[in-house]
Amino acid sequence: MAIHFNEQTKIFHITTEKTSYAFCIAEHGVLEHLYYGKRIAGDDLKYIGNRQIYAFHAHESRDSRKFSAASVGLEVSVFNSGDFRTPSLVYDYEGNLDCNRLRYRSHQIYKGRKPIEGLPYSRENAETETLEVVLSDDENKVELTLFYVVYPSEDVIARSQVIKNTGDGVMTVQKAASMSLDFYGMEFDTITLEGMYLYERAQISRAPLKRGVFQNNSLTGISSHNRNPFIALCAHNTDEDIGEAYGFNLLYSSNFSEEVSVSNLGDTRLIMGLDHTGFCWTLRAGESLASPEAVMTYSDQGLGGMSRNFHDHIRRNIIEREYAFIPRPIVINSWEASYFSVTEELMLSLAKQALDCGADTVVLDDGWFRASTKTGLGDWRTDKQRFPAGLKGLSEKIHGMGLKFGIWIEPEMVNADSALYRTHPDWVLSTSKQPLISRCQYILDLTREEVVNYIADRITEELQGVQLEYIKWDFNRYATEAGSFVTPQGEVYHRQMLGTYKLLSILKTRFPVLFETCSGGGGRFDLGMLYYSPQIWTSDNTDPYARVYIQYGTSLAYPTSCISCHFTKGECTSGRKSSYEFRYRVAEFGSYGYELDLSEFSAEEKAVFKGYSEEYRKDEDLNLNGDLYRLISPESDKFCAYMKVSKDKNKAKLTFLELNATGLYETIVLRLRGLDPNTAYKNEATGEILHGSTLMNAGIRIGDLFGKKRSDGYAVTFTAVEK
Ligand code: GLA
Repeated sequence: MAIHFNEQTKIFHITTEKTSYAFCIAEHGVLEHLYYGKRIAGDDLKYIGNRQIYAFHAHESRDSRKFSAASVGLEVSVFNSGDFRTPSLVYDYEGNLDCNRLRYRSHQIYKGRKPIEGLPYSRENAETETLEVVLSDDENKVELTLFYVVYPSEDVIARSQVIKNTGDGVMTVQKAASMSLDFYGMEFDTITLEGMYLYERAQISRAPLKRGVFQNNSLTGISSHNRNPFIALCAHNTDEDIGEAYGFNLLYSSNFSEEVSVSNLGDTRLIMGLDHTGFCWTLRAGESLASPEAVMTYSDQGLGGMSRNFHDHIRRNIIEREYAFIPRPIVINSWEASYFSVTEELMLSLAKQALDCGADTVVLDDGWFRASTKTGLGDWRTDKQRFPAGLKGLSEKIHGMGLKFGIWIEPEMVNADSALYRTHPDWVLSTSKQPLISRCQYILDLTREEVVNYIADRITEELQGVQLEYIKWDFNRYATEAGSFVTPQGEVYHRQMLGTYKLLSILKTRFPVLFETCSGGGGRFDLGMLYYSPQIWTSDNTDPYARVYIQYGTSLAYPTSCISCHFTKGECTSGRKSSYEFRYRVAEFGSYGYELDLSEFSAEEKAVFKGYSEEYRKDEDLNLNGDLYRLISPESDKFCAYMKVSKDKNKAKLTFLELNATGLYETIVLRLRGLDPNTAYKNEATGEILHGSTLMNAGIRIGDLFGKKRSDGYAVTFTAVEK
């Protein structure tokens, strides 16, 4: 069992293969956090709790000042309950705060897990176990259930909570985080993934934690291009390979908040969950509110170890099992090939040329129902002039050529100039007479069930009979003035997200195909979306030099197989030229495809592209199942290097990219990672056979590029020859 409860010490000890998480039932039934980190024996931890006496702290007991909620580690912290640190829960009961001291009542430990209704969550596997702890106030008006779901092999613990009104009055919740985690001490760096549109997650922001509160959040109605729900806390000396790293993420795709606060005592607290700005949720008698799920991991193998734990967890337990480990489509996408001027003729010509390049799925992006951003969203009527055979006819022709077919949709939106908006101006996410507009569109009010059903039915009708294998689901603006004609203001953002997940579930059931999600590039790259779509369009920036930063940053939290990357002209966002080889090397980092007008290329060039498709397929198992070892961060602005290694360590591929070709040609020695030290490997480029221990300690010299141009970047495969 991964979860133990010691009746004598009242300690809960949750273990994974390499980690321990412990808390206990302390004085007055308070849940006291004791430890999270490297695996330990765990039953002897009570001594660690802070029982020092501090002026100004308050106590339940009139006889002893030893126990105060303000100084001990807590599993949950309610505002106004004697703890002065950042709270994880803020609520009132009929305007009063008299029921905020939550005490242990009961717990259960069981195999498996319960779903979180309406929200994405880590899927159960054969090892999964759950600890459920119920707390309530003295008058039993408020009940809080904490869930700890354990994934032992991945060293991941998933946390969530449900708050319930068990009295007969009205309760208002102003903050309901998914988890709270306390650490004694503050010797951490925080790491977050900052960015913007066309530069998502490209700025790995690392800084020593200071006293005060550090916040990572989104207020855009999606997880956003600007910040990502992933956050890490690591030791100051942690690097890629060595040192302690804690990683956290949320299965949620809308406004989120992560607060890392350092108390006056120099202790650290992480609170993460729904962003509480403007949040106000009413619970009537018997009603409850479930939080999104937070996942956390720990590794003493540096940031690389942390990432690999998350990569495994995401592939094994978050992405749908049906898609997680199977080869992905090699798409040819029409967007950067012809933007809004797509026609049936152009698509058929693209399809023909896609065959020459080894692509297997033709994706009709935006433009099949409109000629510009101004109209069409919400109405979803195929432009019959440009697609005379309709989508059905086109899909049949494409299938007739031996290819698969995919389509782009943006279901959550409506254009201002659309029949839907004219008929239902109250169906958008704003109550203003003239809502703020972005990309000529508004967001549909998916807090309303009739809107979810309407748009699901409209899209279903339009796609009826189309032979589909792939759907690209986009979202191209931020929420502003997010209000609703029917839903209370404080509930709008979260109910909108629940409506979106509902819409995704409905359309996924009706169209059981591979979904790729997208949001103006990578504006909604999060675990919530990965629950529904095994891959996400990473960025509209397809300049390979910029992509190196974007993809590298993304890999801190997400496995390469879900990072969608296309071979494109490469210059559309930057005007910068790049070689085919370099573009391919960068694009094969994730799930591969093409997005350019293939008619501009000669037969010889297409043969080169076909070679790329074949190489991608040959090594795709490393993306789907392998381990990623980052060797050189592009933050150096000089080089980037990484390795993908199969789980059995029999195959590894090293990629080395030069970002700033100066002609200086420094030769560097690169120490490889992740190999078996006791196995000999063949360098498939040179035929040389070297031991894993040699490659990982003495390294290989990057300088002689096996006859290749250095600025093209290169990759070399190592294959185990003897154990
Ligand atoms: C977004 C996407 C692009 C493309 C366009 C279509 O920007 O990121 O890939 O689908 O929308 O309008």
